Amino acid sequence: MPMIKVAVQGLGFVGSAVAIALSSLKNNGVPYFQVFGVERDDQNGKKMVGLLNEGKACFSNTDEDFTRYLHAGLNISCNLKFGTDKKIYSEAEVVVCDVGMDVKLTETYDSQEIEVMDKPFMIALEDVFSQIKPDALVIIETTLPPGMVEKRIVGFAQEIFNSRGFNAAPLIAYCYERVMPGKNYISSILNYPRTIGSADIEALNRASLFYNTFCGGKLTVLRDATSVEFAKILENSYRAMNIAFIHEWTLYAEEIGVNLFDIIQSIKVRKGTHDNIMKPGFGVGGYCLTKDSLLAQWSINNIFKLDLSLGLTLNALKVNYQMPLHTFQRLKNALKSFNGKTLLICGISYLADVGDIRNTPANQLATAVNKEGGSLIWHDPLIDVWDHPARPEKVAGLEEGLQKADAVVFCIPQKEYSQLNFQALNWDKIHLKVWGDTFDIFSDEDAEFLFGREIVPVGIGKGHWKKLYE
Ligand SMILES: NC(=O)c1ccc[n+]([C@@H]2O[C@H](COP(=O)([O-])OP(=O)(O)OC[C@H]3O[C@@H](n4cnc5c(N)ncnc54)[C@H](O)[C@@H]3O)[C@@H](O)[C@H]2O)c1
Repeated sequence: MPMIKVAVQGLGFVGSAVAIALSSLKNNGVPYFQVFGVERDDQNGKKMVGLLNEGKACFSNTDEDFTRYLHAGLNISCNLKFGTDKKIYSEAEVVVCDVGMDVKLTETYDSQEIEVMDKPFMIALEDVFSQIKPDALVIIETTLPPGMVEKRIVGFAQEIFNSRGFNAAPLIAYCYERVMPGKNYISSILNYPRTIGSADIEALNRASLFYNTFCGGKLTVLRDATSVEFAKILENSYRAMNIAFIHEWTLYAEEIGVNLFDIIQSIKVRKGTHDNIMKPGFGVGGYCLTKDSLLAQWSINNIFKLDLSLGLTLNALKVNYQMPLHTFQRLKNALKSFNGKTLLICGISYLADVGDIRNTPANQLATAVNKEGGSLIWHDPLIDVWDHPARPEKVAGLEEGLQKADAVVFCIPQKEYSQLNFQALNWDKIHLKVWGDTFDIFSDEDAEFLFGREIVPVGIGKGHWKKLYE
């Protein structure tokens, strides 16, 4: 059987991994798909496809399959290529769109002030519908405001088709991504169950066949694209809400001196109802949890024009945005003042094992420290550049940073931190006053050890440390 020609539009964190994952799929040893990844035709897009065509990722990642499958697709199966020429869509039987729809984040989370930048996304769709064959299937994976496909995109695509003299209805299906960057990046694309929807039966059937080649039949069909768009936003809002919820209980636990990590562990034994309760932490970052609920409120205001407010949901986003300021306050209390002091931030990516600093909560912490006259240095094994107005300086290694700082805070459990050999550090050269742990990386014995060296251990969610040492 000849390979199915698939174009993947947008080669960011999602699209590059989707293109690589699709190229790895085989039927009796023969690749299912001939995959072409397409980026924007500008300087940055050209740089990205240049790197990918050389077998290199455009960002740090810890999944070996990413590099292995990329190499195999480029050099062994030879069914994977990257470029910036949109004419490639004219050859595709299936186009998968992984271009993002951005939201301008504001600190207020006011439902009336949400600004969705839909233009670049619509331009990307125009690139596709003005090139594809009339019977090509377009699958949109972008996280969208509910109603976008049915109320905006279908008509938009039909107009382009009409202007090209096609009578056919464009074949459009919607199936959001659940990819989890990190150690299981590619596997999360290939194995997570998917949810799909389209009002067009042919589009739905063809898209179902497409996904059944890799998500092992774990496909849920909802009655229309709007329901699927809704599902994605609800899924992420649920998670954001749970984080905000546990943050409130973090403050309570710290005040009364209990260890919230232990408490949560004891609750998690209730499998099926309570085992996904969130743990305390530093804050919420990344591209999705910080914006997706805003897409929902924007759809309410602008697509469905309803008088309805997702008040609780938006408030959760606001709580999450301010979360790192709690860590700031705890560190400041222990240090007395940041003025003239240096804080080492360890782990500026928004998630462990991921090299992505979009909307990292470390931004809020750095701004607050800078405002109080403190200096910042940082360390993250997966990040090279952090462009923050406070101009934090990257240290070459963790130990060097520990020796330069007055206080340290570990914001995410990057592998290097979880495996830190505490006793082997050169303590004679370390003059820290405060050691912050926002993720239960360090044990009670470690805290005792630090305290013995006159370093105050500050643990987010660890009220028992606060009671003992502060
Ligand atoms: N990052 C995640 O973990 C994740 C997880 C699930 C879903 N999503 C969703 O997936 C979508 C993509 O997210 P992402 O993190 O990959 O975003 P991203 O910004 O990293 O990637 C999008 C890419 O699309 C490119 N692009 C823009 N216009 C284009 C055009 N006309 N032609 C070709 N390429 C174009 C951009 O240059 C960019 O590289 C978003 O809707 C996001 O919400 C992301």
